[in-house]
Amino acid sequence: MAMKVFVITSQKGGVGKTTICGHMGVLLSRLGFRVVLVDTDPHAGLTDWWNDREAEEPQLLSVAFDALANSLELLKNSGVDFVIIDTPPQVSDGIKDLVMLADLVVIPSKASRHDLRAVRRTVDLVEDTGKKMVFVLNEVRPKTRIEGEAILAIAQHGKLAPIIHYRQDIVTSMIDGRTIQEIAPRSPGTAEITSLVEYLVKQVGTRLPNHSGKEAVKRGGKQAITDPSTQVTAHSGTYLPAPRGKKGSTKGTASSVK
Ligand SMILES: Nc1ncnc2c1ncn2[C@@H]1O[C@H](COP(=O)(O)OP(=O)(O)O)[C@@H](O)[C@H]1O
Ligand SMILES: [Mg+2]
Repeated sequence: MAMKVFVITSQKGGVGKTTICGHMGVLLSRLGFRVVLVDTDPHAGLTDWWNDREAEEPQLLSVAFDALANSLELLKNSGVDFVIIDTPPQVSDGIKDLVMLADLVVIPSKASRHDLRAVRRTVDLVEDTGKKMVFVLNEVRPKTRIEGEAILAIAQHGKLAPIIHYRQDIVTSMIDGRTIQEIAPRSPGTAEITSLVEYLVKQVGTRLPNHSGKEAVKRGGKQAITDPSTQVTAHSGTYLPAPRGKKGSTKGTASSVK
């Protein structure tokens, strides 16, 4: 299957970019897909979460921002199914370059009129690139009125994905590098995340196999990839991750977006 790249972006912080990246990555890798997460946020939230994580999958790519396009080319030839790129909360040329790499741009937002208005500049930036975008309403509070008018306005620019409600299990699970699926597999929150991921991969032409409970495929140790250019082997269809520091002592090096 051809590798697909998701860029999760929004100029607003705290809307669920990192949460969606982690959850999407775990869900897809547990289904047996080969997933690489990329953290381009200098605050390195995704990298911190990944460093706290015991499980081997998904893998994390640490690469200098200007080398990212090149690294993606190499990953493409190495059997990777999905690349999920987390971004800092900004609108910049750097973000535009990242968006250019996407098969699908995912824009999370909370559901209030104020929050939706705040993603306007991100929407403009993505529109400039002509890339397909999808909105995810996240942290929707039960019994809160979703502001239909604002949502309709934003939805003129892209599709609306299945919504994610506020779920305390999401917060709890991420504290030690996990996801809601791993601490509460049968919860409504896990069902929502599964629907979301199913929807997002469908947008890039992939259907999920019908066995979400499947265990992670073991692939030789949890290690961050630091420089795929030296490690990708086109013949074997695999890449060998570089050794990473002792758990807990080494932070991944997320590159910053200029
Ligand atoms: N659906 C949700 N329910 C509850 N808490 C959430 C949800 N989505 C995100 N959060 C929490 O909100 C905070 C910000 O999320 P994060 O993914 O870091 O946002 P961003 O990457 O956009 O800055 C985190 O503490 C995260 O655990
Ligand atoms: Mg983040």
